[in-house]
Amino acid sequence: MLHAEGIALDQLAEQYGTPCYVYSRAALTRHFRAYSDALGDMPHLVCYALKANSNLAVLDVLARLGAGFDIVSVGELERVLAAGGDPAKVVFSGVAKQADEMARALEVGIKCFNVESRPELERLDRVAAERGQVANISIRVNPDVDAKTHPYISTGLKANKFGVAAEEVFDLYAWAAERPNLKVVGLDCHIGSQLTELSPYLDALDRLLALIDRLADHGIVIEHLDIGGGLGVTYQDERPPAAGDFVHAVRERLRGRELALLLEPGRSIAANAGVMLTRVEYLKPGETKNFAIVDAGMNDLIRPSLYQAWQRIERVDTRPSRPSAIYDVVGPICESGDFLGQERELAIAEGDLLAVRSAGAYGFAMASNYNSRGRPAEVLVDSDRSHLVRRRESLDSLWALESRLPGES
Ligand code: LLP
Repeated sequence: MLHAEGIALDQLAEQYGTPCYVYSRAALTRHFRAYSDALGDMPHLVCYALKANSNLAVLDVLARLGAGFDIVSVGELERVLAAGGDPAKVVFSGVAKQADEMARALEVGIKCFNVESRPELERLDRVAAERGQVANISIRVNPDVDAKTHPYISTGLKANKFGVAAEEVFDLYAWAAERPNLKVVGLDCHIGSQLTELSPYLDALDRLLALIDRLADHGIVIEHLDIGGGLGVTYQDERPPAAGDFVHAVRERLRGRELALLLEPGRSIAANAGVMLTRVEYLKPGETKNFAIVDAGMNDLIRPSLYQAWQRIERVDTRPSRPSAIYDVVGPICESGDFLGQERELAIAEGDLLAVRSAGAYGFAMASNYNSRGRPAEVLVDSDRSHLVRRRESLDSLWALESRLPGES
């Protein structure tokens, strides 16, 4: 039987129903510590990227370990506060920050704004001036790392909406350095997600360090370097660098410099700390395909449908008991793209419980109510205890914010 820490997954499914996300406190802790242990005595902050999984209990676990947080909205900021996170360890990323989001972030005293454009910098200057405050800033550089050699990088290219081109960065820092309500503290980049090689990071790092040196020549001192998130995980047979090896390679490049290092990992902390449990409703043999129809769909876990992402699907009861067949594992949603896995060999029967692995990141966080389905429950396992950390959405909550028209006609 598959377990989450000390608890069998079938027991959790009985207790909390399916579909259901299950997270492990020990795995979250281990993945976070892989970064912080390798960073050791170097000045650093590991800012967990909330977008991967923003459940308050997950944030709580990480906050207690001393984590910082990478946010992209005021909603994520309020989650950090609600979970007991320290606002002074928050960095604010994202291309579309609104004035009221900036104001709230200034009010609670975040560590740094990762600025992505000139108009954003100008807006932040205005908002900080109106409030009589100083905003710490870091410009997100788009290092234009060559996609041909590293095809998995999608956000660090000139063609992407993210960051500021290296040529423009210099002018922005020079402008910011003159403004009394802005304080230059860092330099930031994020080149993509699910990276399985070190070389794109190191290429980007070289470009950023050259830029830091150029800025220093002009009297602009960068205190911290934020190299974003993006370290990949093993879903199938990928072999991404271990967090510790990644950190050591980066530390090597920074040797002799007085720079603090910030990281924004999301997936590498949360993905393999979670599974999604789903039950087989029907087996539907077909002429060209067999379908295993399960009670979770693309609204619960969209990665397979949206990115053709492969996530391991296993029977929770691992005892070999019946002959296997090849199935497309599909959900209840009325779309042909609604699948959790295709052409999977499974020995299953109606009523069996399945675990979709590596579901702790970008799973629940991207879930929706499509087809008027309540989003799944979330459970956090801590050793031999389980905690319901988000109730399954009730049906009436689905239309709680809606109203009918007034009058009769
Ligand atoms: N920092 C910034 C500025 C980001 O945009 C992201 C992710 C991260 C950090 C965290 O990256 P990570 O360590 O998780 O790779 N929904 C997609 C992934 C989108 C990632 C977006 N940005 C998926 O399910 O694969």
